[in-house]
Amino acid sequence: MNVKEIKNPPKLEDFLISYDILSMTSKIDPNNLPKHIAIIMDGNRRWAAARGLSPGDGHQAGAENLEKIIDHCKDIGVTHLTVYALSTENWRKRSVQEVKGIFNLLLKIVKEKRLEYQKSGIKFFVLGNFQAFPLKVRKAIKKIVDMILDQERLKFNVALNYGGRDEIVTAIQNIIKDGVKPSQVNEELVSKYLYTTGQPDPDLVIRPGGEKRLSNFLLWQTSYAELYFTDILWPDFNPKQLDKAIIWYQQRQRRLGR
Ligand code: FPP
Repeated sequence: MNVKEIKNPPKLEDFLISYDILSMTSKIDPNNLPKHIAIIMDGNRRWAAARGLSPGDGHQAGAENLEKIIDHCKDIGVTHLTVYALSTENWRKRSVQEVKGIFNLLLKIVKEKRLEYQKSGIKFFVLGNFQAFPLKVRKAIKKIVDMILDQERLKFNVALNYGGRDEIVTAIQNIIKDGVKPSQVNEELVSKYLYTTGQPDPDLVIRPGGEKRLSNFLLWQTSYAELYFTDILWPDFNPKQLDKAIIWYQQRQRRLGR
């Protein structure tokens, strides 16, 4: 083929980035992967401010990075990924414009990626109270949540209007509503009443952005998770950084209370 006929020749830079990620990925032990990774996507606004951009641009960059992380999780064999996109506190305290911007990004993902997720085996879930969201957002979420997959490779949970304490309170209310006897209440039963019902607890929680706290994220489910903190801001937390966190996780001795 004549060189001129190649419309989008691969860029050397992209090739080098892929090679760099591959060489880090090759250091991961495939037999000791975290089944479930949970990420607090922190630092979008600081990333944007450092570039003279708006908070919305930061969330946009965060959303683009999220797609790379989803693909990488699926490719290396992680089976569950949960990301914190909007907490109950964010929903109440951020400006209307910022929250609207995050909804628009969510709408874009669920509309534009639906068929791609279906083809590549990504099952979409929402954790949190999204009943208060605009109707068009709820409709789009329902469509992607109800999607049937031939073969599932990754459960992808988006925590939206989510709070860990709120999740536990809602579980208790539903347990009482269902008339469950006190003697029947145990850890297994409580887990069934959480948004993550049926899913394994996260093995690894990652928080980019420099803060070292859980911020009301998966309080019940993270009891035995390994916690990885890094100063890198979320839009820069690329697949190579994820590999580094997994390699760190694989060097931990998980005693799980033993
Ligand atoms: C916290 O960092 C991040 C958020 C409140 C929003 C996260 C949203 C995305 C990554 C994009 C959209 C993804 C979905 C699935 C809708 P911050 O913005 O508070 O940053 P800061 O700590 O620098 O202020």
